Amino acid sequence: ADRLVVAVDGPSGSGKSSVCRAAAAALGAAYLDTGAMYRAATWYCLREEVDLGDPEAVAVAVAELPLTISTNPDHQVVTVGEADVTAAIREATISEKVSQVATNPEARAVLIAAQRRIIDRAGFIVAEGRDITTVVAPDAQVRVLLTASAEARLKRRGAQLGGTQDPEALRRQVLDRDTKDSAASNFTEAADGVAVLDSSDLSFEETVESLTSRVLLAQ
Ligand code: C5P
Repeated sequence: ADRLVVAVDGPSGSGKSSVCRAAAAALGAAYLDTGAMYRAATWYCLREEVDLGDPEAVAVAVAELPLTISTNPDHQVVTVGEADVTAAIREATISEKVSQVATNPEARAVLIAAQRRIIDRAGFIVAEGRDITTVVAPDAQVRVLLTASAEARLKRRGAQLGGTQDPEALRRQVLDRDTKDSAASNFTEAADGVAVLDSSDLSFEETVESLTSRVLLAQ
């Protein structure tokens, strides 16, 4: 097919980004990390000294966000204007503040429109986030909710951060973000027609394999 959209949603720490990137690379598909777009928008608001508590100011800033994001699964680059923010958007300050942008309806509308353009242009793409199966691309041929138990997610996020985090702080960080994110979209239950892929007891490779085989079946 010349147009095949794979929509994947899931909570933070579900391994979503690495699984989707690996699946896209294996399939020869493009890859879109929509969380990176919310992160870049947050980075921009902070640089422009926008008051994140002021929804109108946030909406105005995001409407003029000069964002580019690569869709090559092997080469992820995010820029805001002249600045390469690929690394900066992963910092803890961004993770803490991103929900203030993500819960802003006008900011979401701007980013969702951009995501739909990227998906349309790519044709064959794995797009991941919190609302891809439900809002951004509900017509995707493959729609998957990637879940993992809170325990498994905490373990993975801890390993990702080098295993040096205080376990209690980590638990608070991951579960706090779940709570904040659930205000913007419901990604913990699968919508009608969305398949649940629970990775709690799967290895990384098994999870990638499960996703790619669903795509190959849909092709
Ligand atoms: O996936 P990641 O953790 O990088 O996403 C960062 C944040 O962006 C999430 O915590 C959530 O607030 C927001 N987000 C969203 N909708 C998406 C993707 C991400 O609200 N589709």
